Amino acid sequence: MNILVAGGAGFIGSHLMDYLLDEGHNVICVDKLIFGNKNILHLLHGKQASESRKIRFYKTELSNQQAVDAIFDENQIDAVYHMAANSDIQKGGQEPSIDFNDTFMTTHTLLESMRKYEVKNLFFASTSAVYGEMPDIELTESTGGLKPVSYYGGAKLASEAIISSYASMCDMNVVVFRFPNVIGPRLTHGVIFDFIKKLKDNPYKLEILGNGTQCKPYIYILDLVDAIVHLTKNWFPGEEIYNLSVASEGTTVTKIAQIVVEELGLENVDFCYTGGDRGWKGDVPRFKYDISKILSTGWKPVYTSTEAVRQTVKDAIFQMKQ
Ligand SMILES: NC(=O)c1ccc[n+]([C@@H]2O[C@H](COP(=O)([O-])OP(=O)(O)OC[C@H]3O[C@@H](n4cnc5c(N)ncnc54)[C@H](O)[C@@H]3O)[C@@H](O)[C@H]2O)c1
Repeated sequence: MNILVAGGAGFIGSHLMDYLLDEGHNVICVDKLIFGNKNILHLLHGKQASESRKIRFYKTELSNQQAVDAIFDENQIDAVYHMAANSDIQKGGQEPSIDFNDTFMTTHTLLESMRKYEVKNLFFASTSAVYGEMPDIELTESTGGLKPVSYYGGAKLASEAIISSYASMCDMNVVVFRFPNVIGPRLTHGVIFDFIKKLKDNPYKLEILGNGTQCKPYIYILDLVDAIVHLTKNWFPGEEIYNLSVASEGTTVTKIAQIVVEELGLENVDFCYTGGDRGWKGDVPRFKYDISKILSTGWKPVYTSTEAVRQTVKDAIFQMKQ
């Protein structure tokens, strides 16, 4: 298949492209490279580049309709995996237009090109942030009354809504995954990334946002890619939404700090909490996912949340030594 991966140079998109290329697909990667091209250098120039000659890369602003139409015009696209978004929720909190452009408008532009060029298959990377704060409810895909508490969550929910309308009007087949926190090698942001950076600057003291009891599920990137591939191997008519997560309880922020300290081989680190029940405005400190729908398809994750955290810290330390 010819697969367009929007945001393919990012953390998740690059792992997905590795997999799709290994499977023999032709990949068209479109990305404006907010974090540079380090995640895809091995595909474009490295030793694996000759094996991955089926990749085409476009450095393009995905909210630019003319530019995206031109890419659809040049390539016979069978499916779109939309992984592009603003992934820095705190940054979007300072400047809402970032979420509007990178999270919502990219979706609208891709849908318009899909409509014009009659591309029928879409995979969309959504998020637990669409639910907003419902700590006492076990969230299922049909939980209603969604009230996102960040611009990011709002832009994702708006994207889901407009996708639904295109799916219906243009007979598209859509799989929407609501990811929890995704971690693993090539991470570009998030709590593990921040803790390692802070401890490199000062190995005696670690500032922790909130009171440390925030507790969320973390899924390892290989489990996530496996789930995406599992669900999109055969496209079914219509639109399906899946909560995607690990079966175990989540991991608290304090536990993550302890794992980072242990894996870095540090001792006597002073944990300083900024206080309050959340890290920042727009953060959702805890949520409970019902994942019976995705488990019923036969997929199951390998890593628990805390195993995923430990493995990611090991990966990051290994990467730092390269
Ligand atoms: N990582 C997580 O924990 C997590 C959790 C829930 C949902 N998601 C979703 O999964 C997807 C991938 O996340 P990620 O962690 O790989 O993020 P990332 O920031 O590493 O990758 C996103 C990529 O999209 C590109 N991009 C953003 N706006 C663009 C635009 N306007 N034009 C062209 N390129 C643009 C960026 O350059 C980047 O390479 C995103 O949609 C994100 O919202 C991620």
